[in-house]
Amino acid sequence: MSKTAILEIDGKKYEFPVIEGSEGEVAIDINKLRDLTGIITMDPGYKNSGSCKSDITFLDGEEGILRYRGYSIEDLADKADFLEVSYLVIFGELPTKKQLEQFENDIRKYTLVNEEMKNIIDGFPKTAHPMGVLSSLTSALTAFNPKVVNVDNEKEMYEAVCKTMGKFLVLATWTFRKSSGYPLNYYDNTKGYVENFMRLMFELPTGPYTINPVVVSALDKLFILHADHEQNCSTSTVRMVGSSQSGLFASISAGVSALWGPLHGGANQAVLEMLEAIQKDGGDADKYMAKAKDKDDPFRLMGFGHRVYKNFDPRARIIKKAADEVLATLGVNDPVLAIAKKLEESALNDEYFKSRNLYPNVDFYSGIIYRALGIPTDMFTVMFAIGRLPGWIAQWKEMRVNKEPIGRPRQIYTGHALREFKTMDQR
Ligand code: SDX
Repeated sequence: MSKTAILEIDGKKYEFPVIEGSEGEVAIDINKLRDLTGIITMDPGYKNSGSCKSDITFLDGEEGILRYRGYSIEDLADKADFLEVSYLVIFGELPTKKQLEQFENDIRKYTLVNEEMKNIIDGFPKTAHPMGVLSSLTSALTAFNPKVVNVDNEKEMYEAVCKTMGKFLVLATWTFRKSSGYPLNYYDNTKGYVENFMRLMFELPTGPYTINPVVVSALDKLFILHADHEQNCSTSTVRMVGSSQSGLFASISAGVSALWGPLHGGANQAVLEMLEAIQKDGGDADKYMAKAKDKDDPFRLMGFGHRVYKNFDPRARIIKKAADEVLATLGVNDPVLAIAKKLEESALNDEYFKSRNLYPNVDFYSGIIYRALGIPTDMFTVMFAIGRLPGWIAQWKEMRVNKEPIGRPRQIYTGHALREFKTMDQR
């Protein structure tokens, strides 16, 4: 690939450097474009624009490849656990046994949430969506931890990582406990991170709670599969907010809000609601396929399509296999799984979907497993947020440590030219 790109405008040629990444991706560096030409680029949704260089995640949408710090998602989902992968994503290397134990113990130092946070969650109605509550509670953490993190101080940064990992998990489960009218649980520092998630969610003061290792293993895998995904909408939001030097909690809170949308992480809830609607409608998948293809119908086949994967989403493949295994092991027969498989098969053989490279994405099957684990539908996107937390932290840390500039895109103005002010009687 040539080391420069030539742009010709009005007969004048401009030369720009070409950047090549470690996996052969190529970009034109237009850092000087406006200075040299007075012209900017236009790329709504940033489909063709890179915002940063990153060492964290590599994905190849054409080949269906996803790696965290060079390790394949297949290997990590199969051989590692969630905290191990969180350490890898955030600090760049797989931890030794000692490092992992230390990381887990250091997280435990911060799993107690300030009791006054309960006054905040009590202010929400039971009907509030958990993602809205989680975003607010995460932002509220700043009030109880106001110290600005010196990102160049390794110890302070490490402490902020452990604090975020510890408190976010507890707050995420409090959103469910609140909406269910259950008392809020505390983390048990004698148990593991994912085991605690199940306890925090479902343990009641009226009796013992038995942690099912099959459930823990399935959740570990699901959280790993969601841990990072380069510059997706919510991660770009976390980077954007952090680029103004807003704190980590405030940036993560913004990421939670971005993830909530049904075109992004909210799709896992929308998929289950779609499958239940199809089931209620007599299981007529073809009717919904037709709706998805009808330009006049806003309905989309939720859990299908992806901005980057124009082939299969490797995570969807792993989750689909896990769905069969988990439901069989738990003895759960969920009719919507059969509907999902029928939809997938129809779409993969349908010209509309094939011509647009629309395949199942990470959200298509995940909700079926969550439901089998007893997670309520409106908590599905919270599950995505718990999994994505290490990725948000890692990307925020990389952006701040690399001292990247504040994010501030340009625009092309298309409004009125200068106008004379009109007094009230002239309007
Ligand atoms: C996630 O970016 C990430 O990495 C995200 C994520 C992560 O890990 O962070 O992977 C997680 O967000 C996965 C995506 C979850 N969202 C959904 O499942 C919602 C349904 N999917 C879509 O809305 C859509 O596919 C997007 C938003 C995911 C991607 O949209 P793009 O890239 O902007 O594509 P587009 O909207 O321009 O669609 C291209 C064409 C259009 O048709 P034409 O105008 O060419 O005729 O494909 C059609 C769209 O109408 N299309 C669909 C469709 N998705 C795209 N038609 C029906 N059903 C769909 N699901």
